[in-house]
Amino acid sequence: MTNVPKERGRIDLRRAINAVSDVVQNRPRPLREFDQIHMKTGDMVLQSEMVADWADGKELAFIGDGDAISVCVAYLKTRGVLDFGPTKITVFDFDERTVQAVRRFAEREGIEHLDAELYNCIDAMPESPKYDCFYTNPPWGASNMGESVNLFVQRGIEAIKYDGDGMIVIADDDELPWPKEVLANVQSYSRDAGFYVSKMQRKLHSYHLDDAPDLRSCNLFISSLPDNAKRARHSEAASGDRLANFYGKSKEPRVRYVKERKRLDYGMAHEDEYELIPLEDPR
Ligand SMILES: C[S@@+](CC[C@H](N)C(=O)[O-])C[C@H]1O[C@@H](n2cnc3c(N)ncnc32)[C@H](O)[C@@H]1O
Repeated sequence: MTNVPKERGRIDLRRAINAVSDVVQNRPRPLREFDQIHMKTGDMVLQSEMVADWADGKELAFIGDGDAISVCVAYLKTRGVLDFGPTKITVFDFDERTVQAVRRFAEREGIEHLDAELYNCIDAMPESPKYDCFYTNPPWGASNMGESVNLFVQRGIEAIKYDGDGMIVIADDDELPWPKEVLANVQSYSRDAGFYVSKMQRKLHSYHLDDAPDLRSCNLFISSLPDNAKRARHSEAASGDRLANFYGKSKEPRVRYVKERKRLDYGMAHEDEYELIPLEDPR
């Protein structure tokens, strides 16, 4: 990454919001049991612009992305709303609905630099060319002191082969004890892997989270220390204690993949959610 931040022109906010709205229409609905909790749309617009700026000219891996920030970043560039952004984006997610939604959107909109792969971060990271940077908004590790965050961060670090930058989106709240413990543990884990905290943007994003509507998340940026590539080691499956309370108290991972049953148009009402009562019906 460069030392001097680039001057960027103003973005057309209406076009940016409408582009993100197209993406939101295409986003599979969240499964709360796997901590899928979507970021609010206004925050997605700002976050996408920040990610595009941060990863400009780079190859970017997303470790999980139910929010669809990856799609927004790619689409904003293809649409010409932004004239900067990553040159390649790959989403690794265990939810086939997300993977297929990304692929279909990319195909429909002719976004050549966006792709997705079905992958569970409990398994070893698949062999792939080196990425320059990674982004993750993982399960936030409220019940395991951030260990679930650390597994997603580990996969991101493996994707960049221990050399490059990461953006980690996790809980940030001054009133609650657990987000502070998690932040400290993630920073400590990153340090042990040869990374330092290069920036932190606090309390930025809100979520559609009914039981904690005020909980915010931050962007925690990490960057590799010099010569860190030599720390790179073979990726291995995760097991045991690392998986305890992964998605919350007593919620260990039980599934390898969420398979897509039916191809849905998420922006349209589905036949099984309504019934048409004819005018002549006496009811
Ligand atoms: C855990 S959610 C975190 C909340 C975030 N705002 C969201 O909904 O995207 C992030 C993504 O991680 C994915 N995910 C959850 N468990 C996973 C696993 N074991 N391996 C790979 N991806 C996983 C989810 O499908 C989701 O897309």
